Amino acid sequence: MARPQSRYVCQACGEAFLRWEGQCRSCSAWNSLVETVVREVPAAARARSHGPAPEPVPLASLADEVVPRLPVGLGELDRVLGGGLVSGSLVLVGGEPGIGKSTLLLQAAAGLAAGGRTVLYATGEESSGQVRLRAERLGLLTGPAAAAVRILPEHDVERIMAAARVLHPAAVIVDSIQTATLDELDGPAGSVGQVREAALRFMELAKGEGIAVILVGHVTKDGSIAGPKTLEHLVDAVVSIEGERGGTLRLVRASKNRFGATDEVGVLEMVEAGLREVADPARAFLVEHPVPAPGSVVAATLEGSRALLVEVQALVAPAGYGTARRTAIGLDPNRLALLVAVLGRRAGVGLGAHDVYANLAGGIAVADPGLDLPLAIALASTLRDRPVRPGTVAFGEVGLLGELRAVGGTERRLREAARLGFARALIPRTRSGPPTVAGIEVIPVATVRDALAGAIEGAEPG
Ligand code: TYD
Ligand code: MG
Repeated sequence: MARPQSRYVCQACGEAFLRWEGQCRSCSAWNSLVETVVREVPAAARARSHGPAPEPVPLASLADEVVPRLPVGLGELDRVLGGGLVSGSLVLVGGEPGIGKSTLLLQAAAGLAAGGRTVLYATGEESSGQVRLRAERLGLLTGPAAAAVRILPEHDVERIMAAARVLHPAAVIVDSIQTATLDELDGPAGSVGQVREAALRFMELAKGEGIAVILVGHVTKDGSIAGPKTLEHLVDAVVSIEGERGGTLRLVRASKNRFGATDEVGVLEMVEAGLREVADPARAFLVEHPVPAPGSVVAATLEGSRALLVEVQALVAPAGYGTARRTAIGLDPNRLALLVAVLGRRAGVGLGAHDVYANLAGGIAVADPGLDLPLAIALASTLRDRPVRPGTVAFGEVGLLGELRAVGGTERRLREAARLGFARALIPRTRSGPPTVAGIEVIPVATVRDALAGAIEGAEPG
């Protein structure tokens, strides 16, 4: 047998090279090349590629596929998945360490068990004892999950697959893909070679056996799963869990979904006995302030088909020496920089000599263009140290000329705001006029300047 060949694989972009170099020639990352043994293509696979030519099927004779769904019991997760897990699909669940991935998936396993299905939960991260503690906390040591959820403390991919082929569960959960290893590969657990190869094997298991496979992936500091993005291309769906580690709210969102919409979000709350649905997701991220606070505005944002009301907070302080700071948490920093410039030139709100901080309350991150207007109002409100009129919501995109542009879902946002008791909404003026929504006064405005005058107490247009 020939000596196994090795390549140097970049851990950042996945490109392979023959020799080691300090910098990846493909993506310019430093010290990212790791020696990886290249697998010989098995003889069986080679023979398959030389078999008779495959026969393409005319469009008209494609079978009408109904994708059977396995509800996982947690409504919010089912919603994000597009109505439940799809048999034979490969799903990646990502999130920072400690955010609640293992909790969510053990609960999902229990939900599947309650539906009469068997689930294999392979854990390479925790011991059986640790899993037992979690299960006890979640109240799963009795009931259907107690027998139907099978725990396998194992990190070897082949052994997990062997167990799955024997048990033939409806779903396999691999916690986590970074600890899954293949003996024949040299790289350490979590290296790009190991992670990618392990994921490929699990895909074979999913497609070949019709088992839904869920891979848990830790998110690295820059927000990517398992370092390289290679995994995200491979899987059918990528679900991420977000939220403040100290806080209790968790947002579940699909950034990719071959079996459903990608913009749906689920809102969950971490309590003593695990993750549970919140009574009213639209208001989950709202905080009641006893007195109106300068720098705080409620934005009516839209995530998929769900309107969420979130509080935009801003704070400005005179900058010291050097460049003024611009810090955005949960918001797009580029939009913040742009709004600071637009406010200075078009609305007489000069922030050039100030440090600017902006964030969304509750540790949520939103990429809705409709956040521009509330953010602009929050910035002006904190600079002038005047609160926004109570009961006001706002949404709309801000252009470079200080003009306001309408965003999608105007009526849905207004209806949610009205339902939650908001009295007035500042929205971009459009040619067709504002919609009428019962219970809320809609104030259409054309420019940021007008919006500030309408939103902030005691501010004159000028
Ligand atoms: P975990 O699911 O272990 O996170 P991950 O797998 O993403 O690393 O959850 C960790 C946190 O969740 C931990 O700090 C404790 C908290 N937690 C609860 O508050 N309630 C519970 O019922 C459980 C199981 C965990
Ligand atoms: Mg975990």
